[in-house]
Amino acid sequence: MAYETLIVDIEDHIALIKLNRPEALNALNSTLLAELAKALKAADENDKVRCIVLTGSEKAFAAGADIKEMAEKTFVDVYTEDMFGTDAEQMLRTRKPIIAAVSGYALGGGCELAMMCDFIIAADTAKFGQPEINLGVVAGMGGTQRLTRFVGKSKSMDMHLTGRFMTAEEAERCGLVSRVVPAKKLMEEAMAAAAKIAEKSMLATLAVKEAVNRSYETTLREGLLFERRLFHSLFATEDQKEGMAAFLQKREPQFRDK
Ligand code: HXC
Repeated sequence: MAYETLIVDIEDHIALIKLNRPEALNALNSTLLAELAKALKAADENDKVRCIVLTGSEKAFAAGADIKEMAEKTFVDVYTEDMFGTDAEQMLRTRKPIIAAVSGYALGGGCELAMMCDFIIAADTAKFGQPEINLGVVAGMGGTQRLTRFVGKSKSMDMHLTGRFMTAEEAERCGLVSRVVPAKKLMEEAMAAAAKIAEKSMLATLAVKEAVNRSYETTLREGLLFERRLFHSLFATEDQKEGMAAFLQKREPQFRDK
């Protein structure tokens, strides 16, 4: 499918979704968010896709919500259309893993979009921030909640109240990103991580994503029970038999998602 604001490429079981509004540093306008929701849903439903990589350009993953588009909107407009509600939620409905490969700016809604992915690989040029305070607003796509869970209250408050940007190195130190790589190697590393994920049993992949995400939604006791039951349930799969047999026979497993 052709998109106006995205480039989507599916190869070797990986859907690479590239935000493509270079004239606005990939600012998230309504078209981009609607197209992203559509592309994610299509990738999730495509049997050939086993992992999704979301990226931007060298200069910007995304510099936030599109300020030009929203500047003149009224409360009634944004409340009625539930701005940054429905389309963004497709990120959460996507069951296959999504890796954010972030180079350059990931600000405001861009940082929030990256945090909605399952993990973030950052180029050493990446800069994260929640500068909405400079525009007289606050984050609207999860920044106050997710950044706080990632980095703790003190740093989250610092980022939201001052609007300062964080380097990739600081982001790795405080747990916002899983790894930092040289900018030139960003896509190679992200695609290699996606390829690793694509080799696994899809059943275990979907289960682990559900279990980790559950840790944000429930008590430890309930989360542990949820995990244990999922673990038990995977013993009903052929892939569990294959994975363990392959280990014992000192060979690579051949998973069949059954
Ligand atoms: C619309 C944007 C934009 C944005 C950049 N551009 N960010 N357009 N919305 N968020 C446009 C600029 O207007 C400019 O277009 C072009 O992209 C290049 O940007 P420059 O500012 O010239 O580049 P530079 O000097 O390198 O500065 C880069 C920057 C700066 C530091 C990232 O652009 C910036 O501060 N952008 C805004 C960041 C921000 O406040 N984000 C939060 C948005 S609110 P022209 O046509 O002039 O060349 C938000 C709310 C979240 O995200 C709510 C839920 C989603």
